[in-house]
Amino acid sequence: MYAKSRGLWRVSAILLTLVAMLPSPTTAGWPKDVKRATEAKALGAVLAGNEELSTYYNLIKQNPDILLQLPHSGGVTLIAPSNEAFNKSNSFDLKDSALVTSLLQYHILPLSVNVSSLEPGPSYLFPTLLTSPAYTNVTKGQNILISRQHDDTAVITSGLGTRSTLLEVPSQDIPFIGGFIQVVDTLLVPPSRLELTARDAYKDLTSFLGALYKSGLAPDLSSQRDITILAPRNAAFQSIASALDPLSREDLAAILRYHIIPDRVLSSSDLSSLGNSTGLSLVTLLGSDSKAGKVTVSKAGNNIFFNSAQLLQADILLANGVVHIIDNVLNPDEFVEVPDPEARSQTPVFQVSKGAETRTGTRIPAPFTTWLPCTTDCPEPTVDANTQRMTTTTGRNGVNSQSSSGMGAQITAAAAAAAGILGAAGMGVIGMGVM
Ligand SMILES: *[C@@H]1O[C@H](CO)[C@@H](O)[C@H](O)[C@H]1NC(C)=O
Ligand SMILES: *[C@@H]1O[C@H](CO)[C@@H](O)[C@H](O)[C@H]1NC(C)=O
Ligand SMILES: *[C@@H]1O[C@H](CO)[C@@H](O)[C@H](O)[C@H]1NC(C)=O
Ligand SMILES: *[C@@H]1O[C@H](CO)[C@@H](O)[C@H](O)[C@H]1NC(C)=O
Repeated sequence: MYAKSRGLWRVSAILLTLVAMLPSPTTAGWPKDVKRATEAKALGAVLAGNEELSTYYNLIKQNPDILLQLPHSGGVTLIAPSNEAFNKSNSFDLKDSALVTSLLQYHILPLSVNVSSLEPGPSYLFPTLLTSPAYTNVTKGQNILISRQHDDTAVITSGLGTRSTLLEVPSQDIPFIGGFIQVVDTLLVPPSRLELTARDAYKDLTSFLGALYKSGLAPDLSSQRDITILAPRNAAFQSIASALDPLSREDLAAILRYHIIPDRVLSSSDLSSLGNSTGLSLVTLLGSDSKAGKVTVSKAGNNIFFNSAQLLQADILLANGVVHIIDNVLNPDEFVEVPDPEARSQTPVFQVSKGAETRTGTRIPAPFTTWLPCTTDCPEPTVDANTQRMTTTTGRNGVNSQSSSGMGAQITAAAAAAAGILGAAGMGVIGMGVM
């Protein structure tokens, strides 16, 4: 009883503080949008007055610490799931306060975003307050993507390709003193590690992931902070399978390292501005010592290229950064390759030897996917002594599954925690195995 009333007292105090802290009489330092909204009310009043947001308001009141984390200047944007959004995420345990705190943090932007004023078309990457390493290894705060369509609707994309539509209850961009509230119809999902993202949401990345496992770079790569990955799609691996198959693990690892940009989370708009300056190169995991360790970014019209490979799908969010899908495997030994902007698709930069042409087509299994650890029905792996490679068997569910010691489908505490959020968000990931 005492604890409860003390909690309530704190919330009222914080909500009042928010009022006191804020604009009128002085709005110095606040963004123009916020200043203009002179009729804006305090956060508590806005939330209390919106019946679509009663679940959200209750969560905020039960977890008042979240309000203490709000930045004190520059405004904020609260992404508030509607009551129905919470209802849809049926397994969400609203009493798990660590989970709720992280989830709420992922729904707060430390800046005031008036979505109506964004250009329609491109996706804008915004950081959130989520920084806990249990859920993210993006140092500046895990990101979301906002895009406004030409019909004035707007969508937020979060982990595993989850799309949340902005609702007009009563309008987009609900102002309060200190920023905006954006109401969404679906909870945002904190991005997962590459393993889960490739296997559950972006299956065109499974060859890349399998190759990372074969070369020994996965799963450790997913625990590295702040990375940008240029991931060739499955068809890119298929078209040069006969050139990649004979490579040793070390040689394969070198090629894959050339696809990873450490210590930077580069969105498509970052890449676009980099591409504007000619000859700009990105240092990869192969190192900055030699020219062969760098990938050149360029632009032709709206297309972005890395050496001669074209960017196909940008801005897929990961627990530790971002991945962009490209149409060809990059070759560190062919780093001078430049794109042919006129071509419909770029030519692979690996020699496929005569007589070893690669079969291609949708009926052929994606290369390297037999290296993915099993997720569901793990059979006893059998080891082929010559190659150290586990033979692949088909599980009861008909899914190809395979495992080896040290990289099996062990669920780390963090991944399990992430699955908690994912399951919570109704993704049904729990019970399917996490990696
Ligand atoms: C948000 O942006 C739109 C379009 O630029 C503008 O009309 C509106 O006044 C802005 N809202 C606030 C509260 O500043
Ligand atoms: C959410 O679920 C509760 C209980 O199942 C129900 O009473 C309520 O009407 C639902 N709210 C919305 C907005 O769907
Ligand atoms: C973040 O990195 C640490 C190791 O540095 C790792 O233990 C943790 O699982 C990572 N978090 C996520 C969400 O992947
Ligand atoms: C790149 O250059 C084009 C034209 O030169 C310009 O319109 C565009 O705004 C620039 N993009 C970035 C991100 O700097």
